Amino acid sequence: MIIAIDGPAGAGKSTVCRLLARELGYVYLDTGAMYRAVAWALRQGGFTLEQESRAGEMLSKLPLRFVLEDGALVITYEGRRLGEELRHPDITRYASLFSRLQPVRAFLMEWQRRLGAAGDVVAEGRDMSTVVFPDAPVKVFLTANLATRAARRQAEYLQKGITMDYSTLEAQIRERDEADRERPIAPLRTAPDAVILDTSALEIAEVVRELRDLVARKSKDNDLPG
Ligand code: DC
Repeated sequence: MIIAIDGPAGAGKSTVCRLLARELGYVYLDTGAMYRAVAWALRQGGFTLEQESRAGEMLSKLPLRFVLEDGALVITYEGRRLGEELRHPDITRYASLFSRLQPVRAFLMEWQRRLGAAGDVVAEGRDMSTVVFPDAPVKVFLTANLATRAARRQAEYLQKGITMDYSTLEAQIRERDEADRERPIAPLRTAPDAVILDTSALEIAEVVRELRDLVARKSKDNDLPG
């Protein structure tokens, strides 16, 4: 069973997907972290967008590994676990920029499908329901208005000791939304069969409850004869 959840930055995907996966006993697959890890690793090698033609070759040599451990994705580089460095604002920007590149998407799609084959998975990102797992029985488009998303990101950064001006953050999110929606390959889209959930006015627990109810309904529907 794959639960595919897509949506723009700051819609609350990571938080609610982690909780949902834990409650259901599913694996939580944070594909944004995979794009961030590739961006981080390519930057380690000094890669820039101008070197697009070298991306495939560089990717094949990266000492980057994605494994599942206790229901969560673990990302390592030369055997060292990556974590907080992937949340840095610079990496956020590079992840969005590099995610436009076809070799990057192909490289990660292969990993994502391999990890998805592990069994029951909550997969979260931009193209889970449209490209990577188009047959997922549960598809959700999680969204929220821009002001809410910018405020959530600001609070998230603050917790990490990074102070970011609200209007700068709002502009960055808007820019990233546009880039994610307008890229030619696997852009952020609402799958025609996805349930749209606006989290602007909802608490985290309410979103998780809505998702759990949806999964329960879908599971019941799938069990019905015919
Ligand atoms: O969800 P996030 O903010 O951690 O994602 C970082 C970037 O990675 C995002 O701007 C676009 C890209 N991304 C993508 O293109 N496809 C995905 N499935 C997940 C993330």
